[in-house]
Amino acid sequence: AKDGYEHFMLKEIHEEPRVVRETMFSYVQDDIDQLVASLPDLSKYQQIHIVSCGSAMYAGMIAKSLIESAARVRVDVEIASEYRYKDPIYDVNTLVLVVSQSGETADSLAALLLAKQQGVDTMAIVNVVGSSIAREAKYVAYTHAGVEIAVATTKAYCTQVALLSLVALNLTYVHGKVSKAQANEIIKEIQQLPDMLQHMIDDVQYVKAAKIISRHNNVFFIGRGLDYALCMEGSLKLKEISYIHSEAYAAGELKHGTISLIEKGTPVVAICTEERLYEKTISNIKEVKARGANVILVVREDLQVAQDYYDYKISIPKVNRLIQGIVGVVPLQLLSYQVANLRGCEIDQPRNLAKSVTVE
Ligand code: F6R
Repeated sequence: AKDGYEHFMLKEIHEEPRVVRETMFSYVQDDIDQLVASLPDLSKYQQIHIVSCGSAMYAGMIAKSLIESAARVRVDVEIASEYRYKDPIYDVNTLVLVVSQSGETADSLAALLLAKQQGVDTMAIVNVVGSSIAREAKYVAYTHAGVEIAVATTKAYCTQVALLSLVALNLTYVHGKVSKAQANEIIKEIQQLPDMLQHMIDDVQYVKAAKIISRHNNVFFIGRGLDYALCMEGSLKLKEISYIHSEAYAAGELKHGTISLIEKGTPVVAICTEERLYEKTISNIKEVKARGANVILVVREDLQVAQDYYDYKISIPKVNRLIQGIVGVVPLQLLSYQVANLRGCEIDQPRNLAKSVTVE
C-alpha cells in the first residue's frame, strides 16, 4: 500500500528519517564503543575494495572519500561487472566490501565469490536478510531499509550511505585518527540526523527547479570530492525515472571537453557541500554560467555564494563531513521525483529496468 502517496518512490523517500534512524541506531546509540562492538574488527585492514553496481557503487564512492580522508585507509571502488573479470591486486591486508540492497545482484555476488576464492576477507552490506550475498560473505552488516518497492532505489541507498558512514567513523577511530571524545561528538550529531531529514522532506519544495529541468533533454551535475559522488547518484536517479539524459562530472574536468555541450538554458545542478573545495566549484559554476547554463545550486547552508551564480538555490544543513552525504542526497531524490512527475513518467517502474538484476 502506498499509504496515500501517489507513488512508492515518494512514500519510500518519506520513510528515510525512520529507516536511517533504525539502521544507524542498531549499530550505535551514544558511544563509539558500541559501534566498535557491533561491527567486525576492521583495524587490521590497510586496503578496502568496495565492489557493487549502480547506486550501491555510488554509495561506495561516498565511502571512499570519507574513509581515505578521515581514516587514511586506501579504498578502491569498483563496478562489480568489471571486478569479477580482472585479477584484483591484494598486496596488503585487504577487505572486499560488497554493497547490495537485494543481496542477489549477479555481478556483485560473483565479485564476492572471486575474493573468497583468493582467500581474502569479505564483508557485505546488505538489506535483504538471508540473501545470497549475505550468506556468502564472511561478515554481514545489515541496512534496515525494509522492503523497497520502487525500482529506483531511494531509502535503501540512503541507509547504505548511512551504514557506510558508520564504517568510516569506525575505521577512523580504530586507526587512531580520532579520539573517543571526538567520535562521541559525531555520534551526538548522528542522533539529530533523522529530524534534519524529516525537516528537509517536509518543508522544502523544489517545484521551480524541477520545472527548469523538465523542459530540457540534457542536464549536468557537477561537484568535487564527496559532492562528485553525490552527483553520480543524482544524475542516475534523474535518468532512470525521468528519461532525461544527464551526466555527472567532476567540476574541474568539464573544461577538458564536455563544456562544449553547455548551451543557453542547459540545466546544471551544482553541488557544494565541501568547505575545502567550494570556491573551486564556484569558479566552475562561473564557467558554465558564462555559457548560458541555468544553474541549480545545492549548497551547504553556511557557504556563501553570490546570487549572480545561480538561478535557483537549495540549502542543505551543515553536519560533520562524515555524515554529510546522508543529508546531501535527499533533495536530489526529491528533485528527480518531481521532474519525472511533471513529465508524467511511470515513476515506480521505469521502462527496461528490473529491481533485482540476477542475470549477468
Ligand atoms: C538505481 C538502482 C540500481 C541498483 C543496482 C544494485 O536506482 O536501483 O542501480 O542500485 O542494480 O542493486 P543492489 O543494491 O540490489 O545490488
